[in-house]
Amino acid sequence: MKKVTPPTMPPAAAPGRQPIVAAASAEDQAVTPVPVGQTMLDARNVSKTYELGGATVRALDGVSLHVQSGEMLSITGSSGSGKSTLMNILGCLDSADSGTYVLAGEDVSKLSGDRLAEIRNRYIGFVFQSFNLLPRLSALENVELPLLYCGDKKAKERAQHALATVGLDDRMHHEPNQLSGGQRQRVAIARAIVTRPAILLADEPTGNLDSRTGEEILTLFRELHAQGRTIILVTHDAKVSAHCPREVRIADGHIVGPENGAAPAPGAPPVAKL
Ligand SMILES: Nc1ncnc2c1ncn2[C@@H]1O[C@H](COP(=O)(O)OP(=O)(O)O)[C@@H](O)[C@H]1O
Ligand SMILES: [Mg+2]
Repeated sequence: MKKVTPPTMPPAAAPGRQPIVAAASAEDQAVTPVPVGQTMLDARNVSKTYELGGATVRALDGVSLHVQSGEMLSITGSSGSGKSTLMNILGCLDSADSGTYVLAGEDVSKLSGDRLAEIRNRYIGFVFQSFNLLPRLSALENVELPLLYCGDKKAKERAQHALATVGLDDRMHHEPNQLSGGQRQRVAIARAIVTRPAILLADEPTGNLDSRTGEEILTLFRELHAQGRTIILVTHDAKVSAHCPREVRIADGHIVGPENGAAPAPGAPPVAKL
C-alpha cells in the first residue's frame, strides 16, 4: 500500500534529529504472518454486552473493522464509547458475544482460554496508559519477562536489543521508579515488541504523559510502524490520532465514521484531521 502522509502530521523525525529507533536489523523485524497490504484483521458485526448490577450495558453493537497488514490507525471516541472493549477483542484478551473475528487468516471468534492466549502471544504486543511494569525488576528484566515465559534462550540478548530499539540502551539496569514517565513507556514498548509481534495495540499510550513526552512516544510508534508493524492506537485525544494515517471513530458502541470500518483503498488520501 502506498504510504501517504497527511499534511497535518508532523514528520516522524525532525530534520537533523536522529530517529529514536535504531536501523532495522533482522532481529528487529516483526514476524509478519501477512504480507503488507493484505488483511491482517477482520472483525464483522461484533457485539459485546456487560451485565452490571442487573443492568445490561451494550458496549459494542455490530462493529465491523478491517485492517491491513502494515497499517497504522487510531480508534477514537469519548470515554465509555467502547474503545477498550474493542481493543480487548481485537487483542484476543476477550471474545465477542456475537459476530466474527478473523486474525491473520484464522477465525478466533470461538476460541477461548489457552488457545486464545496462544494466538495473542504470537501476534500481539500491548501498551497501556499506566505502563504496567513490575516495580522491583529492572528495565531489562521487565522486557525479558515475556520471553522467559516461553523459554527463549536468547531472552537477555533480545531484551537488550528491544531496549536499544526504543533508545534506552543506557537505562537497562534502572528500575521503573528511577525512570521518567516517557522512559517507562519506552520500556513498556520494548516489552511489547520483544516477542516480535506483527501487531501493536496501545490503549491511551500517552494518557499519563505531558504533551512533549507524549509526542516523543507517538514519534516512536511511527518509527516502529515504518519498520512494518501494524499499529492500532486507542485514544480519546485528537493529538494522538493526528499521528495516524487512518482514524476510526466510535460512539456508543458503533463505528460512526469518518469511515465505516473498511480499510481505505490502496493509495486513497488520508482522512483530513482537525
Ligand atoms: N467489565 C465491565 N463490566 C461492566 N460494564 C463495562 C465493563 N467494561 C466496560 N463496561 C462498560 O462498557 C462501556 C464501554 O466501555 P469501554 O470499552 O471501557 O469504553 P472506553 O474505553 O471507550 O472508555 C461503558 O459504558 C462501560 O461502563
Ligand atoms: Mg478505555
